[in-house]
Amino acid sequence: MPPKDAKILVAGAGGFIGGHLVAKLRSLGYSDIRAVDIKPLTYWYQRSDEVDNCVLDLNRRDACFDAVDGAHTVYNLAANMGGMGFIENNKALCMLSVLINTHLLEAAKHRKLPGRFFYSSSACVYNGAKQTRTDVTALKEEDAYPADAEDGYGWEKLFSERMCRHFREDFGVVTRVARFHNVYGPHGTYAGGREKAPAAICRKVIDAQMTGKPFIEIWGDGEQTRSFMYITDCIDGIFDITNSGIEYPINLGSSELVSINQLVDIVESIASVRLDRRYNLDAPKGVRGRNSDNTLIRKELNWEPSVKLRDGMEKTYRWIWDEMHKAGNESVVNLT
Ligand code: NAD
Ligand code: GDD
Repeated sequence: MPPKDAKILVAGAGGFIGGHLVAKLRSLGYSDIRAVDIKPLTYWYQRSDEVDNCVLDLNRRDACFDAVDGAHTVYNLAANMGGMGFIENNKALCMLSVLINTHLLEAAKHRKLPGRFFYSSSACVYNGAKQTRTDVTALKEEDAYPADAEDGYGWEKLFSERMCRHFREDFGVVTRVARFHNVYGPHGTYAGGREKAPAAICRKVIDAQMTGKPFIEIWGDGEQTRSFMYITDCIDGIFDITNSGIEYPINLGSSELVSINQLVDIVESIASVRLDRRYNLDAPKGVRGRNSDNTLIRKELNWEPSVKLRDGMEKTYRWIWDEMHKAGNESVVNLT
């Protein structure tokens, strides 16, 4: 890890993973954190007054140069993204996030960043032909090529991780890249269109309980499969990969494969409720099956994400339940 007085830049700090990363850095004793997001401060999911909080549009080159100025280490978690409902309908917006990583890399090169540059890639880089079955073979890092990434968002991630490689090889920026598989937990998006399946299912079950509605809508036929990584595993993995010697993009995901119906079973059991399921076959579905092959991360780090889905979903459900029951639905938590 960098020295405790090193300046750490967290790009996308107002979002789900960036917010948790800042909180963890604070708890580890880092005293000089610059937290940057395009959202007004009142919309940040977590916020600490002890941190240099900046509202900047990192699509802009000048903003990236300001943000990286004096930084020792950069964590780039900033992107215009969401779950399937967002990325399927906003391909151009997703691709424009290429500007963020491009300008941050340029700034790191010009400012001669002394520490590491971390980039958050995605399992959406993987070849679609390898994700057509519910009993999918878990994806190995090499399965990103030959390239046939998720249209829009996935291609941007693949290009950006490739650019990290070439800035390292050609310009000496010490980049590290993780391919996250669907991350969930408290202090994330659970409504508004960008939410992913774990938070969306919690919200729908809680809403049914609050309103007395006897059913929930599920996108697709519910048989599609995914693995879901709890946020604490994600943060631990980010630190370990950033500080490691791993120079190629590596999976950071759980290998506990479940169908969406099994995810709903878990949420219903946490909520002690059974609801009718209405399947919307016209909704965004994404790939048929996706799982993380963790052979490489186990070999490299002697570690892999291990929080059980049921345990992580308990915490996520309770947080969303509290949020939905709060008067006025105040969603920003002050860490200090
Ligand atoms: P998030 O949407 O909660 O956070 C991203 C943040 O980036 C947001 O707060 C957003 O306002 C900010 N941002 C967007 N455009 C910006 C700009 N121009 N300038 C400054 N800030 C900007 O998403 P997250 O779940 O925290 O994801 C973090 C990173 O991890 C992203 O790169 C995402 O693509 C990647 N990722 C996430 C998942 C997941 O399941 N959450 C999976 C794969 C990859
Ligand atoms: N979002 C959402 N909301 N998905 C639902 C819902 C719902 O109410 N009901 C069922 N699903 C199904 C979707 O149709 C999809 O088949 C599956 O649940 C998972 O959807 P998401 O969680 O939205 O996305 P994803 O797993 O396909 O992709 C996510 O993970 C990638 C990394 O693994 C996205 O967040 C990507 O942006 C991310 O890169």
